[in-house]
Amino acid sequence: MKIVIIGAGGQGRVVLDILRNNHQFEVVGFLDSDKSLHGKNVDKVPVLGDMSLLETFNARGIGGTIVAIGDNNVRCQFARIINSHGINLINAIHPSATIAQNATIGKNVVIAQGSNICAHVTIEDSVICNTGCIIEHESFIHEGAHICPGVKLAGHVTVEQRAFVGIGSTVIQNITLGEASVVGAGAVVLKNVAPETTVVGIPAHECSNAICSPITERENHHRDFGPTMELICNSRKRHSRRPPVAV
Ligand SMILES: CC(C)(COP(=O)(O)OP(=O)(O)OC[C@H]1O[C@@H](n2cnc3c(N)ncnc32)[C@H](O)[C@@H]1OP(=O)(O)O)[C@@H](O)C(=O)NCCC(=O)NCCS
Repeated sequence: MKIVIIGAGGQGRVVLDILRNNHQFEVVGFLDSDKSLHGKNVDKVPVLGDMSLLETFNARGIGGTIVAIGDNNVRCQFARIINSHGINLINAIHPSATIAQNATIGKNVVIAQGSNICAHVTIEDSVICNTGCIIEHESFIHEGAHICPGVKLAGHVTVEQRAFVGIGSTVIQNITLGEASVVGAGAVVLKNVAPETTVVGIPAHECSNAICSPITERENHHRDFGPTMELICNSRKRHSRRPPVAV
């Protein structure tokens, strides 16, 4: 199946590499709002244009897409809009990832090299399970969360919508990481983390200096591609101090 990747930045290149490794899809291009990339190649794949080209997918014989944007809020917004237009959202799953047969995996999901998704885990739409993460039994990862490289989640961990679980962090069993919360790199989380809260350190404690901006209800009501561009710009401003999102 021919597919297009949305986002030609770092996350786009990561997703391209995963898709090249699993040989299931033919990546025929990127879409990106950055006009300076249009007509150029990124890792030998052309940047075809912006999101308006989604409307031409049928005519071009393109069967689906994946949103490769690191920002959790923007990735979710794009995926919902694409879904509402009836366009197929695919997953990028590296062949070296191990996924339990009884795990449940949504759409627009990235599961990178060496990830381990264990028994009865649920991964909702637009989640990134980054390189070498371990998600233990019966954990539940809600829409748009990012589980960074080397993260270890013990059994029965709940990661709420759009939480960011930083590189190399560890979360013990039965913990809930609240909606749009942030776990700093290398933290060891022993207690629940409240929504929109950043925690760092061992044991993890709240970091009041850090920035953590959740998506607003107003933004949730954008339903077409024009305002989405505005949304991305606003989100990039709000998240200018957010951690880098691609490896
Ligand atoms: C937690 C984090 C999000 C905070 O970023 P920020 O909002 O820019 O915060 P700052 O860098 O201003 O740091 C605020 C304070 O927290 C401390 N801090 C930040 N990250 C920390 C961490 N991971 N562990 C311990 N302390 C940390 C800083 O030293 C600073 O302390 P101070 O006020 O005493 O000087 C960020 O540092 C982080 O860990 N990001 C994870 C990156 C990652 O996982 N990338 C992988 C992408 S695939």
